Amino acid sequence: MNIILLGPPGAGKGTQAERLIKQLNAVQISTGDIFRTNIKNNTPLGAKAKEYINKGQLVPDELTIDLVWDALDKVEDEKSVLLDGFPRNITQAEALDEGMQKRDKKIDKVININVPEDVIIERISGRRVNVSTGKVYHIKFNPPKVEGIDDETGEKLIQREDDTEKAVKQRLDVYNKQTSVLIDYYDKKGILVTIDGAKTPDEVFDQIKKSLEK
Ligand code: AP5
Repeated sequence: MNIILLGPPGAGKGTQAERLIKQLNAVQISTGDIFRTNIKNNTPLGAKAKEYINKGQLVPDELTIDLVWDALDKVEDEKSVLLDGFPRNITQAEALDEGMQKRDKKIDKVININVPEDVIIERISGRRVNVSTGKVYHIKFNPPKVEGIDDETGEKLIQREDDTEKAVKQRLDVYNKQTSVLIDYYDKKGILVTIDGAKTPDEVFDQIKKSLEK
């Protein structure tokens, strides 16, 4: 089963992806995580992506689409794929349709995590991440055992550079103008389910599991 996690910044896509990959024996492909790893490793892709990400803008499609194919082509056939943060506009969605068809694959479900804007702001401002592993915490809703330290690796947690108030405003604007149209795009294909993402992580996960049983 191949799944897209759709939703505004801070909706909880990464948080739910971490649970879903265990449940489904799936591979997560997060374009945001791939860009952040490249930024951390000072690669040419990272340098280009950083210019856009820190301003809250989308990285150009020509840089994004190919890296999704690279990641997809590495996934073993028997594994499910969980796309987190891709596609983010109509061009990417159409490229995905075409690329999946070429590979004899398809998207089975699109899970749209719906969260109001005031909740998003609170979630993003309290988020802390381990850049090496992508593991996500929240200072209030999901704190690490020791403040500022990853429970699993002992590495330092940081606040993402695109989690500033200005960048978050821009990311929400980009979501509203370019990404939210995908709700309708996938609804018309009959594969969209919308989940109330304003509940606790466990409750959100329960809704997702139920929607996948249907
Ligand atoms: P990306 O990394 O994809 O960021 P995003 O879509 O803005 O989403 P976030 O990572 O901010 O949030 P999330 O929904 O994963 O929430 P999380 O689980 O962390 O992209 C970053 C940038 O990269 C983009 O702006 C763009 O520039 C570029 N990019 C990426 N993909 C691209 C593409 N396809 N094309 C072009 N450019 C692209 O949760 C948020 C916080 O809330 C956490 O602290 C978490 O602990 C907490 N939380 C989660 N769920 C709950 C809950 N139910 N209750 C309470 N707290 C919760």
